[in-house]
Amino acid sequence: MSKLTPVLSAHWDQKDSFTFSGYKGNGGYKALEKALAMEPDAVIQSVKDSGLRGRGGAGFPTGMKWGFIPQGDNKEHYFVVNADESEPGTCKDTPLMMANPHVLIEGIIIGSYAIRANHAFIYIRGEVAHVIRRVQQAIEDAYKAGYLGKNILGKGFDLELVLHVGAGAYICGEETALLDSLEGFRGQPRLRPPFPAIAGLYARPTIVNNVETVASVPSIIENGPEWFAAIGTEKSKGYTLYSLSGHVNNPGQFEAPLGITLREILELAGGIRDGHKLKFWTPGGSSTPLFTDAHLDTPLDYEGVSAAGSMLGTKALQIFDETTCIVRAVLRWTEFYKHESCGKCTPCREGTWWLVQILKDLEHGKGTPEDLDKLLDLCDNIMGRSFCALADGAASPIISSIQYFKDEYLQHLATGGCPFDAEASTKFVTSNVGGVK
Ligand SMILES: Cc1cc2nc3c(=O)[nH]c(=O)nc-3n(C[C@H](O)[C@H](O)[C@H](O)COP(=O)(O)O)c2cc1C
Ligand code: SF4
Repeated sequence: MSKLTPVLSAHWDQKDSFTFSGYKGNGGYKALEKALAMEPDAVIQSVKDSGLRGRGGAGFPTGMKWGFIPQGDNKEHYFVVNADESEPGTCKDTPLMMANPHVLIEGIIIGSYAIRANHAFIYIRGEVAHVIRRVQQAIEDAYKAGYLGKNILGKGFDLELVLHVGAGAYICGEETALLDSLEGFRGQPRLRPPFPAIAGLYARPTIVNNVETVASVPSIIENGPEWFAAIGTEKSKGYTLYSLSGHVNNPGQFEAPLGITLREILELAGGIRDGHKLKFWTPGGSSTPLFTDAHLDTPLDYEGVSAAGSMLGTKALQIFDETTCIVRAVLRWTEFYKHESCGKCTPCREGTWWLVQILKDLEHGKGTPEDLDKLLDLCDNIMGRSFCALADGAASPIISSIQYFKDEYLQHLATGGCPFDAEASTKFVTSNVGGVK
């Protein structure tokens, strides 16, 4: 177990880890005291020096983003946490908020202080009612203890924190759609520039950060940026939550240094389910190009995954063994993207619909080998030509699946149907719910 670096998940198996007293008992809110004794700019510098990069998918340097907020502009600033977590396979923010909501709240207070915001919001996915209740309770407890509200810890800093519950749309995880939704509009991405740091919520300078990103800040302030920067790889610093799901013996959250490999994580997770072997996997959720068993030793950091042709994304490692039909899996993801397309731009709205039609035919052995070229042509017209990254995410699994498993697509056509037994692949997954490592 030496590869694991439990920081965020260090106390998840403690029965009161989510309570205010449990968190305080584990040394919680000490980083806040330290941060409030620093100048806001020094807090931003520490986050910059740590090398922390956004854990929401794109890996943008967090300290640099905070540094974009104009200072002395006499405008209200806002700090917004993206807790929408809806990407298939991505399941780290929800357990984090469930097991330790106070580390997120502490990170929010520190971040808001650093960017000089007096209002912060958590935009949380509407379907997770149990997590919403837990985070709301934690906010109330933090107010009661004087960590939120007026004159926090007597340091003259005020912060109001609002939990906003979304209505359940994947696109509202895209940061500008999230801001529109928070303002009460239909959630659709905004044209950029201007970026949220200049004109975000209510057209005011706004930071949008992922839950895990914000929750990582207290440990950086408490232990120092050098401590964080010493973990991980040269350009991908720190520890992170890898979410392992699918055909593995022991799925769950594995908190480890950036740069660990799937082979190492699988060892910690008891391997692929007994009697089976790895076929394909996603390194960062369903919107990242697929990997195969040839990528078992790829370092799971931003550079390593990108050099191998994919993206680290949300570090959602969905594992599929040889019983899984690649066409069926890709079709299911594509149906998700078609359903969640917000409809704002034509390539995505129309293109995802056509992708589903063609994939459905292929799954049932209908069509011709030329349909594979048509699929790739459609993907080419969608990727990079749509308004936001949802559409790129829809095309990625299709392109990579044809790159690695073209023969299997052709086999469906040759046999006039799907050669796989759907039950063999799904039985195990639905009965196999992961825990915390
Ligand atoms: C379709 C789509 C959905 C997204 N969903 C989420 C999400 O649920 N949570 C999240 O943190 N980021 C999500 N993102 C990324 C956000 O736009 C943004 O990059 C992120 O919240 C920034 O935080 P970070 O810098 O801490 O990573 C999504 C992006 C796209 C294009
Ligand atoms: S790419 Fe899709 S989700 Fe994004 S704006 Fe266009 S239609 Fe909406």
